[in-house]
Amino acid sequence: MPLLHSPPVPVLILGGTTEASTLCTLLEYQNNFAPTLSLAGVTRNPHLPALSVRTGGFGGVDGLYDWLRHNKIQAVVNAVHPFATVMSQHVSIACERLSLPLLRLKRPGWKATPADTWHHAPDLNKAAMILAEITQPLQIFLTTGRKETRPFKNAPQHHYILRSIEAPLPTDLPPHTTLITARGPFDLAGEYDMLRRHQINWLVTKNSGGKATFAKIEAARQLNIPVLIIDRPAQPAGPCVHTAQEALSWLQNYSATTLRNV
Ligand SMILES: NC(=O)c1ccc[n+]([C@@H]2O[C@H](COP(=O)([O-])OP(=O)(O)OC[C@H]3O[C@@H](n4cnc5c(N)ncnc54)[C@H](OP(=O)(O)O)[C@@H]3O)[C@@H](O)[C@H]2O)c1
Repeated sequence: MPLLHSPPVPVLILGGTTEASTLCTLLEYQNNFAPTLSLAGVTRNPHLPALSVRTGGFGGVDGLYDWLRHNKIQAVVNAVHPFATVMSQHVSIACERLSLPLLRLKRPGWKATPADTWHHAPDLNKAAMILAEITQPLQIFLTTGRKETRPFKNAPQHHYILRSIEAPLPTDLPPHTTLITARGPFDLAGEYDMLRRHQINWLVTKNSGGKATFAKIEAARQLNIPVLIIDRPAQPAGPCVHTAQEALSWLQNYSATTLRNV
């Protein structure tokens, strides 16, 4: 148990995911923590929790190191997206320098079933190369994110239905692109209808995991549409949990042991 009357423990949550938002909601009811949620600031009008929020990059590892020290942070939960590799590396280095406890909160990836046809690519460039080699024009549902469409300019023979929360720069788009701006979650009926309406015959997606965007995988399965899946990048070593509840337990454990002695 934390010491009676001990001040709330400052902790940092690196967010931009559903899991980070859920953890923040759980922390709203924990008065032994003083959490700050950090967002990159890439999404306009994000859903914000009722706790301290800071927005924008820290200025690399050194900026993050200074911020952690200045704000007397005692523990960090890295809940950025599984593909946000730069931030994950930066926080790993900064926490190691400061000997701060760091937990990775990362939802599990999706797994193919026997009913799926998945082609794997280790990154977006390799995915675009696979598509470039297919000469027959395809109708591709592209859900990789608005900042990551450029590689597909190298496979210009296909027609892309691009869905992203906000519109990308027109110069980043392959020549035949139809843009749909929408924010998840998406349900199975809607995704099924989307794939049929646009006569999609390939789906390209990162293996983001989670429920909010899983319906497209299920719809592709039902329609026998192949999926070109971008596999998850490696992440720095260290403890990792899959759910916000597990991350809260980890924080409570620190609060009950290590943190009360600092
Ligand atoms: N990559 C994806 O597919 C994806 C999908 C959905 C949501 N997101 C969310 O969007 C944000 C940016 O993703 P990304 O792939 O561009 O990340 P990234 O490549 O790992 O990070 C790029 C830079 O953005 C800043 N940054 C990233 N996350 C931050 C955070 N939570 N708080 C403050 N600064 C942050 C850092 O700037 P400084 O070096 O200046 O500190 C970092 O060096 C992340 O918060 C992530 O969770 C990403």
